[in-house]
Amino acid sequence: MARKKIAVIVGSLRKGSYNRAMAQALMKLAPASLDCELVEIGGLPLYDQDLDENPPPAWTAFRERIRASDGVLFVTPEYNRSVPGALKNAIDVGSRPYGKSAWAGKPGAVMSVSPGAIGGFGANHHLRQSLVFLDVPAMPQPEAYVGSASDLFDEAGNLVSESTREFAAKFMRAFAAWVETNARTGAVRA
Ligand SMILES: Cc1cc2nc3c(=O)[nH]c(=O)nc-3n(C[C@H](O)[C@H](O)[C@H](O)COP(=O)(O)O)c2cc1C
Repeated sequence: MARKKIAVIVGSLRKGSYNRAMAQALMKLAPASLDCELVEIGGLPLYDQDLDENPPPAWTAFRERIRASDGVLFVTPEYNRSVPGALKNAIDVGSRPYGKSAWAGKPGAVMSVSPGAIGGFGANHHLRQSLVFLDVPAMPQPEAYVGSASDLFDEAGNLVSESTREFAAKFMRAFAAWVETNARTGAVRA
């Protein structure tokens, strides 16, 4: 069976980001059927509809990488009970030009990570709201709101909590199955 290419998008731009550390852990724990790659969003100019005619090269490169993927994995913090602006910008950039969204039909999954107790629930679900509109079937289970992030990683960013590692591995196994079930081969939808 061909490996599925997964674009991994981290909602934090911070160097010491817990979400980036979690994304690295998820990529390592992923089943062999997934070929995961980080797709950076920090260099994307802010979306501006006036630039649609002549888009910045960074937008075009980002859209091409999403189009070339078989699935998308979002690992994001919560900012003010919602999605960080950098991630929302990436979502908007990928969704245009109108009728040519790069996201359409890509199976997705969302994990939110926070030092707080609620584990980024608000961001997780605000993101899911956009994914419904973008025709990204988002894996419903297991839900992944990871709290107390400051207790889970060592200084080098390794995921050292055994129970969280087990959960992360289970999440990636479920995602691999989700991608297989929901892949729309050759589908490019408006
Ligand atoms: C602008 C801003 C807003 C934040 N709002 C929330 C919030 O609503 N909920 C929450 O759990 N944490 C909130 N935090 C704290 C983040 O969860 C924390 O900074 C976390 O480490 C960010 O993720 P990262 O480590 O991947 O960068 C906020 C942080 C910032 C900078």
